[in-house]
Amino acid sequence: METNLIKPPVELRYADELAALKSSDTGKRPENWQLSPKAVRTFILGGKAGGRDISRKFYGNDALVERCIITLAGNRGLMLVGEPGTAKTMLSELLSAAICGKSTNTVQGTAGTTEDMIKYSWNYALLLSKGPCREALVPSPLLIGMEQGIFARFEEITRTPAEIQDSLISVMSDQILNIPELGDDGLVFAKPGFNIIGTANTRDKGVNEMSGALKRRFNFETVAPVRDVRLEREIILREAADLARAGHIDCAPDKDVAELLAVTYHELREGVTAEGTMVEQPAAVMSTAEAVSVYFQTLCHAWYYGSGKMELPVLTENLLGAVCKENRDDLGRLKSYFQTAVKAKGMKEGGIWNEYYQTAKYLR
Ligand SMILES: Nc1ncnc2c1ncn2[C@@H]1O[C@H](COP(=O)(O)OP(=O)(O)OP(=O)(O)O)[C@@H](O)[C@H]1O
Ligand SMILES: [Mg+2]
Repeated sequence: METNLIKPPVELRYADELAALKSSDTGKRPENWQLSPKAVRTFILGGKAGGRDISRKFYGNDALVERCIITLAGNRGLMLVGEPGTAKTMLSELLSAAICGKSTNTVQGTAGTTEDMIKYSWNYALLLSKGPCREALVPSPLLIGMEQGIFARFEEITRTPAEIQDSLISVMSDQILNIPELGDDGLVFAKPGFNIIGTANTRDKGVNEMSGALKRRFNFETVAPVRDVRLEREIILREAADLARAGHIDCAPDKDVAELLAVTYHELREGVTAEGTMVEQPAAVMSTAEAVSVYFQTLCHAWYYGSGKMELPVLTENLLGAVCKENRDDLGRLKSYFQTAVKAKGMKEGGIWNEYYQTAKYLR
């Protein structure tokens, strides 16, 4: 597969790391897993493999990652739930790539997801000419996962109507999918290594509840936002550098700007500043993913319109767009954050914090 893609799949992006882990892996491996649980952990949380450095990809909760891997080694599904932008999708891709060598076997849950997208559908030209046969069958990611002994990822499962979600229940209980049209050949048994990783957002409005029967077939893990400003700054810098590389943007990332943004997101999310002043939290989700996109947007502006140096007025305007897109009351909260927290930091520390405070006039 080509590597010159906007977002190569994890297994391609980290092919070298995965190969190094595989060749030095001596841990116990569940049947059909590409790597042992120990090596999967190293792939996600970083470490060494045969003298090679393996980068850390998920920050924050190492025990959660271990629990996810253990769930998948058993025969229960894994459901990652949490606020938007907490790396649920990223974690499910990392797990699938490390364990199955493939992160793209995915159903995207939407209000329009139908049962045949989850189970199977037909190539109607072949169905008409040959009748129901394997050749005419279009397998879903679930069916592919069962037949190949790999994971099927179900993104945003709660966007799908509950009765459609429930078509997973029989597969998860019996590990069999019945295709009645194929008669005696219509029973598909899941191979070892098959499992399901779901993700669901706990914040967005209009989501469908999951039925109790389906919930019981999954182990739930809640992915929380990163609580450490330093880590958040690292994530912003690392992700923006990756995006810049993919977009051929040769602009030096500004660590101080990443720091400002990480502190702003952290304090607005927590509702309290590092100095202990209470600030009103915006209704908008202050996710790390949003912080990454505000930073990257500012970097792009510097590259295409500016001198190559990230500009704070542009940062503040992008922040305004990200925070106030849903609720205009958030504008008042953001302004008041600048008038209290940013002003105080500007007076105490001067420098870039003072410059940042001067950009409060763009909040309108
Ligand atoms: N704990 C974390 N470790 C590493 N990166 C993180 C972390 N939290 C957030 N990110 C960053 O946020 C980005 C967005 O993550 P992702 O799309 O996986 O979130 P999500 O939880 O699936 O969001 P949504 O609910 O909107 O689908 C990641 O690519 C990464 O840059
Ligand atoms: Mg997601």
